[in-house]
Amino acid sequence: MVCLGNICRSPIAKGILIKKLEDKNITWVEVDSAGTADYHVGGKADQRTVENGMKNGINLSSHRGRQFSKRDFDVFDQIYVMDSQNYADVIDLATTKEETEKVKLILDELKPGAHLSVPDPWFGGEKDFEKVFTMLDKACDIIVDKIQFDEKA
Ligand code: 4NP
Repeated sequence: MVCLGNICRSPIAKGILIKKLEDKNITWVEVDSAGTADYHVGGKADQRTVENGMKNGINLSSHRGRQFSKRDFDVFDQIYVMDSQNYADVIDLATTKEETEKVKLILDELKPGAHLSVPDPWFGGEKDFEKVFTMLDKACDIIVDKIQFDEKA
């Protein structure tokens, strides 16, 4: 899960996906988050992110920021980005077709091909964080369905 700062959208996305996988006893998937920027490396999630997570049953208190790196292409099969700028920044680091194909806008899981972005709630308030949560929650439902399908295939 990748956003710009790794303190708002991608930590929420990671927390949601981990919880959904735990609820289904899916233990073989590794989930992590990162930012394209280095502004918040080692830092905690935004306080509003932590509060929104808590309200929705997700504990983000142990989150620490890290920056996306080229090595992530070797570690992860799927790289979900939150917006079109994240997409461009991550694609810039890809050097093969295989790496490029791993990168997806997360909301394309909900509306394939629409190329919608998860709006950055950084300048917003609780309502904006809740809207982000709802979008990511729906997208993660589909991601879990796909993982379950892969598990059966
Ligand atoms: P995020 O939000 O990319 O969803 O974590 C942001 C957080 C911090 C900044 C920008 C976006 N910032 O400029 O510090």
